[in-house]
Amino acid sequence: MNDARPDAPWWRDAVCYEVYIRSFADAGSDGYGDLPGLTSRLGHLADLGVDALWITPFYPSPQHDHGYDVADYRDVEPTYGDLEAFDTMLTGAHELGLKVIVDLVPNHTSSEHPWFQAALAAGPGSPERARYLFRDGKGRAGREPPNNWLSVFGGPAWERVPDGQWYLHLFDSSQPDLDWTNPEVAADFETTLRFWLDRGVDGFRVDVAHGLRKAAGLPDVDDPQKFVSGTMPRAPMWDQPEVHEVYRRWHEVLAGYDGDRMMVAEAWAATPAATMAYARPDEMSQAFNFHWLEAEWSAREFRDVVSLSLTEAATVDSSPTWVLSNHDVVRHPTRYGGGKVGLARGRAATMAMLALPGSAYLYQGEELGLEQVEVPETQRQDPEFLNGRGPGRDGCRVPIPWSGTAAPYGNGTGDPWLPQPDGWAALTVEAQRAEPDSTLSFYRRVLAARRALAGDAVELVDLGEDVLAFRRGAVLVVLNAGEEHVPLPDGEVLLASDGLGGEGTLPPDCAAWLAVAPVS
Ligand code: GLC
Repeated sequence: MNDARPDAPWWRDAVCYEVYIRSFADAGSDGYGDLPGLTSRLGHLADLGVDALWITPFYPSPQHDHGYDVADYRDVEPTYGDLEAFDTMLTGAHELGLKVIVDLVPNHTSSEHPWFQAALAAGPGSPERARYLFRDGKGRAGREPPNNWLSVFGGPAWERVPDGQWYLHLFDSSQPDLDWTNPEVAADFETTLRFWLDRGVDGFRVDVAHGLRKAAGLPDVDDPQKFVSGTMPRAPMWDQPEVHEVYRRWHEVLAGYDGDRMMVAEAWAATPAATMAYARPDEMSQAFNFHWLEAEWSAREFRDVVSLSLTEAATVDSSPTWVLSNHDVVRHPTRYGGGKVGLARGRAATMAMLALPGSAYLYQGEELGLEQVEVPETQRQDPEFLNGRGPGRDGCRVPIPWSGTAAPYGNGTGDPWLPQPDGWAALTVEAQRAEPDSTLSFYRRVLAARRALAGDAVELVDLGEDVLAFRRGAVLVVLNAGEEHVPLPDGEVLLASDGLGGEGTLPPDCAAWLAVAPVS
């Protein structure tokens, strides 16, 4: 509850848990998570104390990008269940008071989507091709791609088809980009929105929200490699002004439904202001803020992240969002150095993040203190790795451990689709549940305590260069990112991320919440 805005919509200060469906919970023996598995584990999420879940794409898909290549936007991938299993999950979540956000992938379809198959069959100049970005090539016999854009997953962003034309794919070649100037595309997505809204979902996470419109003429760029990130100024493939028309229309669609349905943008733009533009009052509800996820373990960086994020959200009257991990990045305990230190820092950062106003997005397994897994190269499946663009993202996507002492750790009965490491026995939900010092118990305590926090006002407090400290209402949050113990200010310690030092000090890599007199 947000006392500053008693009628505020639920999402403004919600904690939302990301379910990477393929790896969350397998109800069977095929090694893939599924909707019945999720339904059976909803109790874990309610016990944990989150408000909502976001489920990564569970639609029919050849799974070249593990669901972010959608072949049918209005059905369920058989590996994950069916529409009835979805409805059962949704009802179960709502009964436990959990909201459900589904992932929408509007920038591209799968190459197995019937539209793309029809486009291939129909040939150049056809209305079927006009739903995508087909172009003739350059050079002799059109053998060169139409422009010099590169794919985010490596190599040219164009693929040639047998009749000689090329199609644009900003991601994998199995993910052709849609042409959002085509009204048929817009109309079909509206149907998809309504399909899931009518079933009762509470919102959408919008994938690659900044990609839908491309600059007219698809002009070359001067240094193609720089433009794959989405954060280059004046990029012709990202963050075009016209993309906002799409979200203004969707805003109207959602506004026609009861219950504060919401949208959160995954939008990488050149400036923070450009990212926040996706969360203007007549567009989406929120935009992901990745500043913390990109920051080093540094009090100075964390202070900047906090003040910048609060200021940015306020400019559009949205609420800030906070993320430390998701299915695209190295898990944060590993980023912070790994092992005992990495976990201690991860817990401390979590405590600071969860004290801030706005919504926090947690990623499955972080409540267990999981680290990035070193998946053997022969078993990696991420297109980013397969296309030669670095180590890939499989290491944060390994199926999570529920119980038992060996793989599959209670996550179904078959071989998990990515190998789980030895040594996870102490990290299972079962092993951590009753253990007061476990990371799981820690998350539950922090999430419960968060409910008592109130007000949107945050005031940074100067406790030295190596300390992030801020007040929110009657709570002072202190995080020690330095190498020395720091004295704790006066005030009852409400929570600490680890054991405190003697004589009222806060050890390195620790955070604490203290009760202080409210600002008058
Ligand atoms: C988003 C998703 C990522 C996916 C990409 C293409 O960035 O988070 O997992 O690969 O979009 O859809």
